[in-house]
Amino acid sequence: MIEWEEKYSVGITSIDEQHKKIIGIINRVIAAKEFDDNTEDIAEILNEMAVYSQDHFKTEETHMIKFKYPEYQYHKEEHNDFALRTLAYQSRVITGDNCVANAVLEYLKSWLVNHIQKADKKYSDCFKKNELK
Ligand SMILES: [Fe+2]
Repeated sequence: MIEWEEKYSVGITSIDEQHKKIIGIINRVIAAKEFDDNTEDIAEILNEMAVYSQDHFKTEETHMIKFKYPEYQYHKEEHNDFALRTLAYQSRVITGDNCVANAVLEYLKSWLVNHIQKADKKYSDCFKKNELK
Protein backbone atom coordinates (compact mmCIF):
# COMPACT_ATOMS: atom_id res chain seq x y z
CA MET A 1 0.00 0.00 0.00
CA ILE A 2 1.12 3.54 -0.69
CA GLU A 3 0.84 6.16 2.01
CA TRP A 4 0.59 9.90 1.49
CA GLU A 5 3.95 11.56 2.04
CA GLU A 6 5.08 15.16 2.02
CA LYS A 7 7.08 14.50 -1.16
CA TYR A 8 3.77 14.25 -3.05
CA SER A 9 2.62 17.67 -1.87
CA VAL A 10 2.29 20.50 -4.38
CA GLY A 11 1.97 22.92 -1.46
CA ILE A 12 -1.69 23.66 -2.07
CA THR A 13 -4.01 21.93 0.38
CA SER A 14 -7.09 21.79 -1.85
CA ILE A 15 -5.11 20.06 -4.62
CA ASP A 16 -3.24 17.78 -2.24
CA GLU A 17 -6.62 16.59 -0.98
CA GLN A 18 -7.58 15.64 -4.54
CA HIS A 19 -4.23 13.92 -5.09
CA LYS A 20 -4.81 11.85 -1.98
CA LYS A 21 -7.75 10.36 -3.81
CA ILE A 22 -5.51 8.99 -6.52
CA ILE A 23 -3.37 7.31 -3.86
CA GLY A 24 -6.62 5.81 -2.59
CA ILE A 25 -7.34 4.52 -6.09
CA ILE A 26 -3.83 3.03 -6.38
CA ASN A 27 -4.36 1.24 -3.07
CA ARG A 28 -7.67 -0.12 -4.30
CA VAL A 29 -5.93 -1.57 -7.37
CA ILE A 30 -3.31 -3.18 -5.11
CA ALA A 31 -6.08 -4.65 -2.94
CA ALA A 32 -8.03 -5.87 -5.99
CA LYS A 33 -4.93 -7.58 -7.34
CA GLU A 34 -4.34 -9.34 -4.05
CA PHE A 35 -7.97 -10.36 -4.08
CA ASP A 36 -7.66 -12.59 -7.11
CA ASP A 37 -7.70 -9.87 -9.79
CA ASN A 38 -11.45 -9.47 -9.57
CA THR A 39 -12.55 -7.97 -12.91
CA GLU A 40 -15.63 -6.36 -11.36
CA ASP A 41 -13.45 -4.51 -8.86
CA ILE A 42 -11.12 -3.33 -11.61
CA ALA A 43 -14.06 -2.13 -13.70
CA GLU A 44 -15.38 -0.19 -10.73
CA ILE A 45 -11.96 1.33 -10.01
CA LEU A 46 -11.60 2.36 -13.65
CA ASN A 47 -14.96 4.11 -13.48
CA GLU A 48 -13.73 5.96 -10.44
CA MET A 49 -10.54 6.90 -12.31
CA ALA A 50 -12.64 8.34 -15.13
CA VAL A 51 -14.70 10.44 -12.71
CA TYR A 52 -11.60 11.47 -10.77
CA SER A 53 -9.77 12.59 -13.88
CA GLN A 54 -12.68 14.69 -15.12
CA ASP A 55 -13.22 16.53 -11.83
CA HIS A 56 -9.64 16.88 -10.74
CA PHE A 57 -8.19 17.87 -14.11
CA LYS A 58 -10.93 20.43 -14.54
CA THR A 59 -9.91 22.00 -11.22
CA GLU A 60 -6.24 22.24 -12.23
CA GLU A 61 -6.96 23.43 -15.75
CA THR A 62 -9.42 26.08 -14.58
CA HIS A 63 -6.75 27.53 -12.28
CA MET A 64 -4.17 27.37 -15.08
CA ILE A 65 -6.37 29.34 -17.45
CA LYS A 66 -7.25 31.85 -14.76
CA PHE A 67 -3.62 32.35 -13.71
CA LYS A 68 -2.33 32.27 -17.32
CA TYR A 69 -0.01 29.37 -16.52
CA PRO A 70 2.48 29.16 -19.42
CA GLU A 71 2.66 25.35 -19.52
CA TYR A 72 -1.09 24.90 -19.64
CA GLN A 73 -1.20 23.31 -23.09
CA TYR A 74 1.48 20.72 -22.36
CA HIS A 75 -0.05 19.94 -18.98
CA LYS A 76 -3.48 19.51 -20.50
CA GLU A 77 -2.05 16.99 -22.98
CA GLU A 78 -0.83 14.84 -20.10
CA HIS A 79 -4.32 15.00 -18.59
CA ASN A 80 -5.85 14.00 -21.92
CA ASP A 81 -3.47 11.07 -22.09
CA PHE A 82 -4.62 9.91 -18.64
CA ALA A 83 -8.26 10.11 -19.70
CA LEU A 84 -7.59 8.23 -22.95
CA ARG A 85 -5.64 5.52 -21.19
CA THR A 86 -8.42 5.08 -18.66
CA LEU A 87 -10.84 4.59 -21.56
CA ALA A 88 -8.48 2.10 -23.19
CA TYR A 89 -8.23 0.09 -19.94
CA GLN A 90 -12.02 0.17 -19.66
CA SER A 91 -12.41 -1.32 -23.12
CA ARG A 92 -9.83 -3.99 -22.30
CA VAL A 93 -11.93 -5.00 -19.28
CA ILE A 94 -15.06 -5.12 -21.43
CA THR A 95 -13.36 -7.45 -23.92
CA GLY A 96 -12.56 -9.85 -21.07
CA ASP A 97 -8.86 -9.06 -20.69
CA ASN A 98 -8.05 -10.04 -17.12
CA CYS A 99 -4.49 -8.77 -17.05
CA VAL A 100 -5.51 -5.12 -16.91
CA ALA A 101 -4.90 -4.65 -13.18
CA ASN A 102 -1.12 -4.85 -13.55
CA ALA A 103 -1.05 -2.35 -16.37
CA VAL A 104 -3.34 0.03 -14.47
CA LEU A 105 -1.20 -0.23 -11.35
CA GLU A 106 2.03 0.46 -13.22
CA TYR A 107 0.46 3.40 -15.02
CA LEU A 108 -0.93 4.97 -11.85
CA LYS A 109 2.39 4.55 -10.04
CA SER A 110 4.20 6.26 -12.89
CA TRP A 111 1.54 9.01 -12.85
CA LEU A 112 2.36 9.66 -9.21
CA VAL A 113 6.07 10.03 -9.96
CA ASN A 114 6.02 11.60 -13.42
CA HIS A 115 2.94 13.76 -13.30
CA ILE A 116 2.11 14.62 -9.68
CA GLN A 117 5.71 14.91 -8.50
CA LYS A 118 6.93 16.66 -11.64
CA ALA A 119 4.35 18.37 -13.86
CA ASP A 120 2.00 19.26 -11.01
CA LYS A 121 4.78 20.60 -8.78
CA LYS A 122 5.76 22.98 -11.56
CA TYR A 123 2.54 24.98 -11.23
CA SER A 124 2.95 25.29 -7.47
CA ASP A 125 4.71 28.68 -7.49
CA CYS A 126 2.33 30.13 -10.07
CA PHE A 127 -0.73 28.98 -8.12
CA LYS A 128 0.69 30.21 -4.80
CA LYS A 129 1.51 33.62 -6.31
CA ASN A 130 -2.17 33.82 -7.16
CA GLU A 131 -2.91 33.13 -3.54
CA LEU A 132 -4.31 29.69 -3.95
CA LYS A 133 -4.04 27.65 -0.77
FE1 LIG B 1 -2.06 17.71 -13.35
